Amino acid sequence: MQNGERKKVFAANWKMNLTADEAEDFVKKLLKIRIPEETQIMVFPPSLYLIALAKIAKGRPIALGAQNMYWERAGAFTGEISAPMIKDAGAEYVICGHSERRHIFGESSEMVTRKARAAQIEGVIPLVCIGETLEERQAGETLEVLQSDTLSSLAAVDADPDIIIAYEPVWAIGTGLTATPQDAESAIAYIRSQIKEIWGKTAERIRILYGGSVRADNIDELMRCPNIDGALIGGASLNLESFLEIVTNGTNI
Ligand code: PGA
Repeated sequence: MQNGERKKVFAANWKMNLTADEAEDFVKKLLKIRIPEETQIMVFPPSLYLIALAKIAKGRPIALGAQNMYWERAGAFTGEISAPMIKDAGAEYVICGHSERRHIFGESSEMVTRKARAAQIEGVIPLVCIGETLEERQAGETLEVLQSDTLSSLAAVDADPDIIIAYEPVWAIGTGLTATPQDAESAIAYIRSQIKEIWGKTAERIRILYGGSVRADNIDELMRCPNIDGALIGGASLNLESFLEIVTNGTNI
């Protein structure tokens, strides 16, 4: 299966940014734009905004997701939100194991797979992030890290073609440094080969995104790569115009 057969994904990860008014304004304006049939747009706002944004986007071709969750359904876990709450809010996706969660908040792949599994059980689709640090890349350990992160982050998860993976080299996130299309393609092809080891043919249907300083001027060469199915966009997704430019440039290739 080539990437033309996998629906492209452009996902905005707003992280801890934007006010509630700015978030609503963004989504309302986004809904006025005709979204190309062959693309899927996702927005990951701060979870506080999910309920309001889900009401605005209900029945429209924009999917919403949370940026993180805890694996228990409910209980004494101050500050956390659960998969049933995400679903209740009207969101369909949840990011599991973003590099900021792994490196700032100490999340391990064992925690990531518990989260992804808990989401899956509730019918919330996990978007699982994987990527090497600069030290690991310089030490020649990239493939080893990608193998172990992929296998352990998906260890508890059932094979499912709807699950999304994002390859985000940690050194490229928010730094202005982007992996070359060749490096991104070979890392993503390798991740797909690892998923094939555990999920067989399903691996061909999984969308694997690239993330890390994606901009309007580098998306088209990334999207030309046969294994890259879209992008997870941080900084450049905070502004509607730059996000739309990425979608347009990444779609018309
Ligand atoms: P960036 O972030 O586009 O700002 O590099 C990407 C991400 O962290 O998902």
